[in-house]
Amino acid sequence: MDYFLYRDGVLHAEDVPLPQIAAGVGTPFYVYSTATLVRHYRLFKDALEGLPNLVCYAMKSNSNQAVIKLLADLGAGMDVVSGGEYLRARAAGVPGNRIVFSGVGKTRSEMELALDGGIRQVNLESEPEMNMLSRVATAMGVTVPVTIRVNPNVDAGTHAKIATGTSGNKFGIPIARASAAYALAASLPGLEVIGIDVHIGSQLTELAPFEVAYGKVADLTRTLRAEGHRIERLDLGGGLGIPYAHLNKTPPVPAEYGALIKRTVGNLDVEVEVEPGRLISGNAGLLVASVIYMKRGEGRDFLILDAAMNDLIRPALYDAHHDIIPVMEAPAGVNHQPYDIVGPVCESGDTFARGYPMPPLAPGDSVAFRSAGAYGAVMSSEYNTRPLIPEVLVKDDHFAIIRPRPTLDEIIGRDIVPDWL
Ligand code: LLP
Repeated sequence: MDYFLYRDGVLHAEDVPLPQIAAGVGTPFYVYSTATLVRHYRLFKDALEGLPNLVCYAMKSNSNQAVIKLLADLGAGMDVVSGGEYLRARAAGVPGNRIVFSGVGKTRSEMELALDGGIRQVNLESEPEMNMLSRVATAMGVTVPVTIRVNPNVDAGTHAKIATGTSGNKFGIPIARASAAYALAASLPGLEVIGIDVHIGSQLTELAPFEVAYGKVADLTRTLRAEGHRIERLDLGGGLGIPYAHLNKTPPVPAEYGALIKRTVGNLDVEVEVEPGRLISGNAGLLVASVIYMKRGEGRDFLILDAAMNDLIRPALYDAHHDIIPVMEAPAGVNHQPYDIVGPVCESGDTFARGYPMPPLAPGDSVAFRSAGAYGAVMSSEYNTRPLIPEVLVKDDHFAIIRPRPTLDEIIGRDIVPDWL
C-alpha cells in the first residue's frame, strides 16, 4: 500500500497534487512519500517483534540523505556497501554502531574509513578480505566485530542479474567451507567473530528460498557453536519482493516473512538483522515525466517522454515492468490505446513499455511510473548529457526538493580539457 492516489481526478503524493510539484521543479522528477516509507519500515519492525532485532535499511536502494535520516530517526540501522554509502549514512546522522558494512570487495581505505568512524559489524565475503581487515584493524589498534557471509547455494527464483545465493555467483563463502573460514577468522588478530550473514537475492516473490537458506543458517549456527564460536547475531539480508504489476501473484508480506524468521532461527537465542531495501523504498516513490511527442509509427504509436533510461534503467537492464499511469485520471470508460512508451535517448533499449494501454494524452501531459522509489534515482546517470533529475520528498501537504536538478553548465563544467589541446 502507498500514498499515491487520485483525488478529484488528480494524482496526489499524500496531500500534494503532483501538478503542483511539476510546476515547481519541472519534469521529470522523482517523488517520495514519507508516510509510505514510515509504514514500510514499521511493517518490518512489527514483523520481528519479540525477537531482538535491528532493521538495517539497504541504502543502495535509495540513498538520499533525507530518506536515510527519516528512517534512522525511526530507529533503523543502515546496510552500506561502500565507503561513500558509509559517509552518507554518517552525514545523515546515523551512528556507527547502527551501520553494517556489506559488499564483496571492500578496499583497505573503505575499511579504514569505517573503523575510524565506528561500525556495528563488517560482513566478510572472502578469506583475502578477512586477512585485509585483520591487517587494517591491527594497524589501527582496534577490534572489529565480524560476520562471514555464507553462500547457501539456494536458487532465489529471481532475475539472474539480481540472484546472489547460488554457487555460480561471486557472493559469500560457500557454506561447505564455512567451518574452515570461521576457524581462520577466529585466529586472526583484530577480528571478533560474532555471527553469520546471508543474502540470497533481490525481488524474491516466494518464501521458500528464504526458508531453505535460513534453515541452513540455523544448522550452521549449531555447528559453529559446537566448534567453539560465539554466534550471537544473524544478518539475514534483504530481498523480499514488492508487487510490480506484472506479477500475477502478490509477494509475501513482511508479517509472513517475520513469521518465517521466527520459525527458522527464532529459538537460537540470537539477535536478528534484516537488510530490506526495495520493500521499504520501492513503492514509496514515483517517477513523474511528461509527454514530449506522440509519434505515429508503422503498426505502432510511440509516446516519447522527457524521462529516459538514464533516469530509470530497470526496464532496460532487467526487463522490469513499472506501471505507468496518467497524472490526470482518465475519465471512466475512455478508450485506451496501446503505445510504446519511450525516452529520447538514442538507443532502442530506451523503451519503458511496449503496447502499453494509455488514455489519450497530449504533449505536456504528465505520467507517473509507479514503484520507482528503489533502484531508480540511485542507478541514474547523465548519459546523453542529461542532468540527474530532482528528487522531492512529500510529507502530508508539503514537499521539499531533496536533490536539485544540476544545471547543464555544472555538468559540462566538470570536464577538464588539458592545456595541450
Ligand atoms: N543486502 C545485500 C547484501 C544486498 O546485496 C541487497 C541488494 C540488499 C540487502 C537489499 O535487497 P532488497 O531488499 O532491496 O531486495 N538494482 C536491482 C537490485 C539489486 C539488489 C542488490 N542487492 C534492481 O533494480 O532490481
